[in-house]
Amino acid sequence: MRGVEQIPWLYDLMMRLAPRIARWRSELVAGAHGRVLEVGCGTGLGLTSYGADVELFALEPNFEALCWARRRDDHDARLVCATAEAIPFPDDAFDCVVSSLVFCSVPDADRGLGEIKRVLRPGGRLLMLEHVQARSRLGARVLDWIQPAWTLVSGGCHPNRDTVAAVERAGFVIEADSFRARGVMRRFSARPGE
Ligand SMILES: C[S@@+](CC[C@H](N)C(=O)[O-])C[C@H]1O[C@@H](n2cnc3c(N)ncnc32)[C@H](O)[C@@H]1O
Repeated sequence: MRGVEQIPWLYDLMMRLAPRIARWRSELVAGAHGRVLEVGCGTGLGLTSYGADVELFALEPNFEALCWARRRDDHDARLVCATAEAIPFPDDAFDCVVSSLVFCSVPDADRGLGEIKRVLRPGGRLLMLEHVQARSRLGARVLDWIQPAWTLVSGGCHPNRDTVAAVERAGFVIEADSFRARGVMRRFSARPGE
């Protein structure tokens, strides 16, 4: 069964109802410079916010979403049908990797983050926007409880993941002054640790 993430027109319609997420996404993307890979670009909602200096690559496993991204792309980005767990680029290939609302859906998040670390050059940056497990005990219980149905309807999203911890576990150091939190939303940049 296809979920919302696999139905481009429905995903874009739902995103229109979330202007704050759109603002956070474009602010995230505007911080990317150099040779940039966007992981899980979906229908390409972030692609139009990159600066003119960016050499842009993007990957997305859903071919239909990738076709929408192609139509939206105004950066002449190189778009690839692939997953975060098997990024088809060599080591140290990028100055920056961008991920917006993706790691809630990546089946093997640890592997995907390891791949991002591999393709980032030393000193490169991961820019991430994600929603995470609720901080309150009640909120966390509710998200745990709705997760199976949510994952089914959304097409893969897990509302109760602790992606910030996964990023640190993968060996990234989060830049404290970049960290923003609002409700369950998190936005930050991170660098591969030594
Ligand atoms: C909620 S959408 C976010 C799309 C886009 N980044 C945005 O901000 O609108 C999640 C995206 O992650 C993609 N995705 C799911 N599993 C993935 C994986 N293993 N590797 C890369 N992307 C994946 C989905 O196909 C979907 O397009």
